[in-house]
Amino acid sequence: MRLDKFLCDSLGVTRKEANQLIKRKEISVDGAMRNVASIQVNDTSKVEWKERQLTISGPRYIMLFKPDGYVCSHEDATNPTAFVLLDEIKMDKLHFAGRLDVDTTGLVLITDDGKWSHRITSPKHNCSKRYRVWLAEPIQDDYIEKFEQGIQLNNEKDLTLPATLEIIDREENEVLLTIQEGKYHQVKRMFAALGNKVEGLHRDTIGSIRLDETLEPGQYRYLTAEEAATF
Ligand code: URA
Repeated sequence: MRLDKFLCDSLGVTRKEANQLIKRKEISVDGAMRNVASIQVNDTSKVEWKERQLTISGPRYIMLFKPDGYVCSHEDATNPTAFVLLDEIKMDKLHFAGRLDVDTTGLVLITDDGKWSHRITSPKHNCSKRYRVWLAEPIQDDYIEKFEQGIQLNNEKDLTLPATLEIIDREENEVLLTIQEGKYHQVKRMFAALGNKVEGLHRDTIGSIRLDETLEPGQYRYLTAEEAATF
């Protein structure tokens, strides 16, 4: 097929947008920049945009290291949205597969595949999320048991599902908490229910996807096919 048609199908852009990418010399075919829309590509051609190999109609699965100060929504009156950190096209098609508070850092998954994100965010799927938490007050001896048994949050009918607490550093009041739910401000509310206060919160894992240690705050990368297939 023609290169511009390939770009329309793989990136979800219009023919006009595809031609602009080609004219701007952003597209390479088999390692060489090509600026002719009509050249033919086939199954064996390696078509790349911004060093990313394109495939036809592939959904996008992205991991972002969200820095402090960014919100996980398309718009916000006060803070920048984490979407400004993405250099992508068709931004309106992308959504967050689970959010973090503005002051929480770490792993956020972003996609244009609604069924995939539903498997991560739906309460029915009990997808696990792990948080590194820094507390204002000392860690009490009964915390591990209390998280296992479930915690009564303010304004909730049921106890939280069993959660796993691992103590990392008693002097620094630092723990790892793995929960299977995603209620509003859940981690902060769980510790508040125990009379403590979260001072720092960082998510490093969702399901079996771990935040890539080579990413700096604000950087992102595409999930590998294996990572995306875990949901
Ligand atoms: N729990 C919270 O309280 N905040 C987050 O950002 C994520 C989980």
